[in-house]
Amino acid sequence: MKTIYLDNAATSFPKPAGVSQRMKDYLDSVGATVNRSVYSSAQDAGLVLLTLRERLAKLFHFDDPTYVILTPGMTAGMNMVIKGFLKSGDHCLVSSMEHNAVMRPIQQLTECGISFDRIPCDREGFLDIDAIEGMIRPNTRLLVMAHGSNVSGTVQDAERVGKICAAHGIAFVLDAAQTAGHIDVDFYKFGLSALCVPGHKGLLGPGGIGAMLLRKDFAAQLTPLIAGGTGSASDSELLPSYMPDRFESGTPNMPGVYGWEAAMAFLDETGVENLHAHEMALTERFLNGLKDIDTVRLAGTWDLDRRVGVVSVDFKNIDNAEAAYRLETEYGILTRCGLHCAPSAHKSLDTFPQGTVRFAVGFASTEEDVDTALEAIRVIGA
Ligand SMILES: Cc1ncc(COP(=O)(O)O)c(C=O)c1O
Repeated sequence: MKTIYLDNAATSFPKPAGVSQRMKDYLDSVGATVNRSVYSSAQDAGLVLLTLRERLAKLFHFDDPTYVILTPGMTAGMNMVIKGFLKSGDHCLVSSMEHNAVMRPIQQLTECGISFDRIPCDREGFLDIDAIEGMIRPNTRLLVMAHGSNVSGTVQDAERVGKICAAHGIAFVLDAAQTAGHIDVDFYKFGLSALCVPGHKGLLGPGGIGAMLLRKDFAAQLTPLIAGGTGSASDSELLPSYMPDRFESGTPNMPGVYGWEAAMAFLDETGVENLHAHEMALTERFLNGLKDIDTVRLAGTWDLDRRVGVVSVDFKNIDNAEAAYRLETEYGILTRCGLHCAPSAHKSLDTFPQGTVRFAVGFASTEEDVDTALEAIRVIGA
């Protein structure tokens, strides 16, 4: 039986040709770390890291690659931003569609005198943007929002939210885990203070690496969570004040840097708009097919212009975990069932506590994959 990978919202698979080879080349033939030694292979490695920063800056229309901070991943970046920014007495706003990469750090901070409120979302997962202004308090300093939902694919209007934050002097942090590499994410148009992305989802790189892009005035207010060797300013026991070193202590994940740089080159050559067109054509096909199947309920929106290719369904006649198991064992279809680390999103979508079965197409998915998934849903759900 052929395997059909439809779990791209968890992590993209396969990776573009060349990604694994580049990681192997680094491990077999380069081996050097960056910022520490001056021999030529170390210089080459430094150039690859710089190219990666430049590619990320270009993709997000960001002007200064030195403010592109490499992180050990999306979750690490979110923790650095949330915990490095909020102080006792601060209030923070989040959407009701957040992933636990946002909610768990914030919940931890409630033990240190920080409070938060959830901006309501409708049953399709769209934020009630008109409610934001009424929820802002004198001590509200931060708004954190998932751009695209990892449960339903619902995409929020980041530009409108950014304008409200700017008008009230509130920092705006975007979790672009499900949109980066899928749709255009424009740092300045959205009025962002910080943008966090993982390397391994729509940006098609390996796991264990991500990035946070920081606006200068926001970076100046951020306390680095991790302190250590940077290979620079080694005469001092204090962290350097300059970027990116201030936020990049410790030896970086160089195999990850090489692999991600290769993936970003693929994205640059292919074009996010082309990847988007492919994924949305498949999503349209999938949603059209789902309209004829009344044994499942779609969680989220049917509106193709306001979503990405993450499609969650709730099986009405059988348990979602059993459906996911049968999808794999009977059809070779790999999905993810349950609550997807986002209980708040499932509550908004009215799929809590049963969760959903999530299908997420990627650049390598085909019409045949979608048709097989539809046929499987039809048979299993009956
Ligand atoms: C919306 C969203 N935010 C954050 C994360 C966390 O990403 P990672 O597990 O790669 O750190 C994910 C991953 O599933 C996600 O979908």
